[in-house]
Amino acid sequence: MKKIVIVNSSPRTDGNCDLLCAQFYNGASVNPENEVVRIDLKDKDFDFFREDQAEDDADLAARELMDSNVIVLATPVYFYNMSGMMKTFIDRMTPYFSRMSGKDFYFILTAAINRSEMEQTVDSLYGFTDSLPESNVVKVIYGSNVSRKGDILEHPAYQEVYEIASKLI
Ligand SMILES: Cc1cc2nc3c(=O)[nH]c(=O)nc-3n(C[C@H](O)[C@H](O)[C@H](O)COP(=O)(O)O)c2cc1C
Repeated sequence: MKKIVIVNSSPRTDGNCDLLCAQFYNGASVNPENEVVRIDLKDKDFDFFREDQAEDDADLAARELMDSNVIVLATPVYFYNMSGMMKTFIDRMTPYFSRMSGKDFYFILTAAINRSEMEQTVDSLYGFTDSLPESNVVKVIYGSNVSRKGDILEHPAYQEVYEIASKLI
């Protein structure tokens, strides 16, 4: 039994990240003992990391992450980096770093470019997980060569995500 938290940082409803996150959610839900939580950052209200930051939705999400076994970070590639929403969200996790040890991570990325060109974006996500004690990136899912909403439906990653998630027990 695992608690799995999926963080989607694409603003596009029915976009490629959205669809891959839905597949991960459905796959992880095959085991009825799993608790699967999905957080769509576009629907949340949170500020940049600031000194003396008041509590907002990022702090509520941090509690879900601290309480989880598995964290999925999903981002479209924006200018060869993660989305600004994901970067701001990660920055806001700073006060909680020491309480996010020992998690398994999955990265989901979508982009118009090909897989090898996505590596620098993957590296930017590792910037977060490498900072967390005993984190383990289990798998990176590359939604490469997709640009329009729904392109991912024809991509091997669409099935791959479901299969990976359905093995979580
Ligand atoms: C602001 C912005 C910047 C982008 N930058 C890149 C980029 O650097 N490389 C790339 O391959 N695609 C880029 N794209 C295209 C998206 O990565 C691509 O359409 C992706 O499939 C969007 O994922 P989504 O459907 O999950 O939102 C950009 C799109 C936007 C809106």
